[in-house]
Amino acid sequence: MKKILFTLLCLFALTGMAQEISLIPQPAEMKVNEGKFLFRGKVVLCYPKIKDSGIDAVVDNFVDEMKAATGIKLKKDRFKNAKLSGLDVIMSCKKGDAHIVLSVDESLGDEAYSLSVSAKRIDITAAKPAGFFYAFQTLKQLMPRNVMAGVPDATIKEWSVPCVEIEDEPRFGWRGFMLDEGRHFYGKEEIKKILDVMAAYKMNRFHWHLTEDQGWRIEIKKYPKLTEVGAWRDSKVLGWGDVKPDGQRYGGYYTRKDVKEIVEYAKERFIEIVPEVDIPGHSQAAVASYPEFLACDPENKHEVWLWQGVSADVINVANPKAVQFAKDVIDELTEMFPFGYIHLGGDECPTSKWERNSECQALLKEIGSTNYRDLQIHFYKQLKEHIAQKPADKQRKLIFWNEVLHGNTAPLGDDITIMAWIGADRAAVDAAKRGMNTILSPQIPYYINRRQSKLETEPRSQGHGDETVERVYNYKPMNGVDAELQPKYMGVQANFWTEWVEEPSVVQYLMLPRLAAVAEAGWTPAEKRDYNDFVKRIQGEAVYYRLKGVDYGKHIFK
Ligand code: ACM
Repeated sequence: MKKILFTLLCLFALTGMAQEISLIPQPAEMKVNEGKFLFRGKVVLCYPKIKDSGIDAVVDNFVDEMKAATGIKLKKDRFKNAKLSGLDVIMSCKKGDAHIVLSVDESLGDEAYSLSVSAKRIDITAAKPAGFFYAFQTLKQLMPRNVMAGVPDATIKEWSVPCVEIEDEPRFGWRGFMLDEGRHFYGKEEIKKILDVMAAYKMNRFHWHLTEDQGWRIEIKKYPKLTEVGAWRDSKVLGWGDVKPDGQRYGGYYTRKDVKEIVEYAKERFIEIVPEVDIPGHSQAAVASYPEFLACDPENKHEVWLWQGVSADVINVANPKAVQFAKDVIDELTEMFPFGYIHLGGDECPTSKWERNSECQALLKEIGSTNYRDLQIHFYKQLKEHIAQKPADKQRKLIFWNEVLHGNTAPLGDDITIMAWIGADRAAVDAAKRGMNTILSPQIPYYINRRQSKLETEPRSQGHGDETVERVYNYKPMNGVDAELQPKYMGVQANFWTEWVEEPSVVQYLMLPRLAAVAEAGWTPAEKRDYNDFVKRIQGEAVYYRLKGVDYGKHIFK
């Protein structure tokens, strides 16, 4: 009897306890108050009716997610006068037992929101749909993790949110993640999972590295062989050292229909997709598809590469058909991706084949240079001009890896964005000083495909396990940068290269939880970031990952 009483008391103590709060990323300002908002009876979600504002879609998704994960059916009620706030809104809302109230404050930033939870009401204020979306993400993170994971939990009988006051906005506008699917192809269900996890951490740019020496992964209507030939190779593993190609037919690509589906999925989560076609280097798969005009030596055999490394089989930038090819690919990418940016790569582009090619030699003379690196810049300039001639809604800004800053004598102009990876801090300063925008994706420690611990169980990948969660977390973006250069720093990005990673579960394992650490660097004010606190907050994420069906690195979980 005593034992039963003790158990009952414990259960009561547990349910009566203040709900654990562990938000990731940590909000800019948060005050935790006593008490909780209980979902009970008729809860009315009251929000302004603003034509074509995008708010309806955000609300509808939240209502659907709540129903799916908790069974709670929120009653939607749109009010006409969008200028109303606070009690005035309540007066114009339908009667209910409790309310969630959205109001517009145009003085807030596009991604900012405030969230006030009291025992009676949840008030959310934002200027734009993205702000409301992030407020709902925070609200879901304040509830048991099955809500963010979108999985029902029949054992939970009472749903509540702790009372908090949050004023939140991101430190940086660019909070990105790059996945290389050129080396290995994972498919759209995996991409959706990644987009979900990114959205949970309020990340907003998915940089999709779609082409490589080892595979071309996106259907381009005008050049069908890119996927008929370029998406397939005769080995799943990529050869390196003692590891030899395995002879297995391997590959895959995204059709236009797949891309449309993924674009819609990303848009719902306020994630812009940045497609990358890495040209003219890292292009052997394209060259193998159309050697007749892309190869510097069409007389030789070209195949999709079975090895790791940097191939010398680059596009012949002196062939007008190759330039036209690049323009056509950009046109199709522009159609498929209704976002702001296209990435054209630009890293690791050997010039050895150009040096031996008579067309390249002639073109170099024609542009008045003796530096073969200038051919690469000349190629990009033609693509930039092509884009500049498009109508406003088809304009796209270009991003390049930081190699394009150096080694050439004919710079590309300051209207490009530099993604800084090698010697990233210095490269970013260099770009900013030249008037270019820049994004920090330092190879060490933001290449989160590298091993994250020295544990024996760590999967095969690059590095020695030194890029731990702590190391990633403690990288300080824009540290010590002069105030006048800081506006050029758009944000941060984690990159994931897949030479060694054949399976999606290994992508997940290496990516998590380090992605959360990068997300926090992108969102949370520098002075509010604290690794020990992050370790405490991340513990519960193991539940989220398990419910979501994604693997994760275990070394910092207790
Ligand atoms: C890169 O890591 N080659 C951008």
